[in-house]
Amino acid sequence: MAKQALFFNIDIVRDLDAGLPAVMADKSQFQQVFMNIFVNAVQAMDERGTITIASRHNREGRCVEVAISDTGHGIPREQLDHIFDPFFTTKESGQGTGLGLSSHTAS
Ligand SMILES: Nc1ncnc2c1ncn2[C@@H]1O[C@H](COP(=O)(O)OP(=O)(O)O)[C@@H](O)[C@H]1O
Ligand SMILES: [Mg+2]
Repeated sequence: MAKQALFFNIDIVRDLDAGLPAVMADKSQFQQVFMNIFVNAVQAMDERGTITIASRHNREGRCVEVAISDTGHGIPREQLDHIFDPFFTTKESGQGTGLGLSSHTAS
């Protein structure tokens, strides 16, 4: 995605743990999840800023964690409870559907 026009003014910082164990996951679903999150980040930064992608092995939790952050405007506290709701969007019509974050959460 980094080669696409949307990302031309975005710096991508990779802070990836090289020693991660193998993870059983659905590759195409994870591609969609990450794509949604990256587009959200770019939109929140008005297409200019830094996306940081960090991965680490949480040994106590026996899981791999991926943290993605951006230098955009953030999410107001009162909206945090709603971002995973289907159709919740703060974007103008044509910009967002509210189906990005909700589409991959377990019901
Ligand atoms: N990186 C982010 N920075 C700020 N707000 C965000 C970010 N990611 C998501 N949001 C908020 O969560 C809402 C829901 O996101 P999403 O489900 O992807 O729907 P959409 O992108 O279509 O609006 C967005 O409209 C936005 O208000
Ligand atoms: Mg989205």
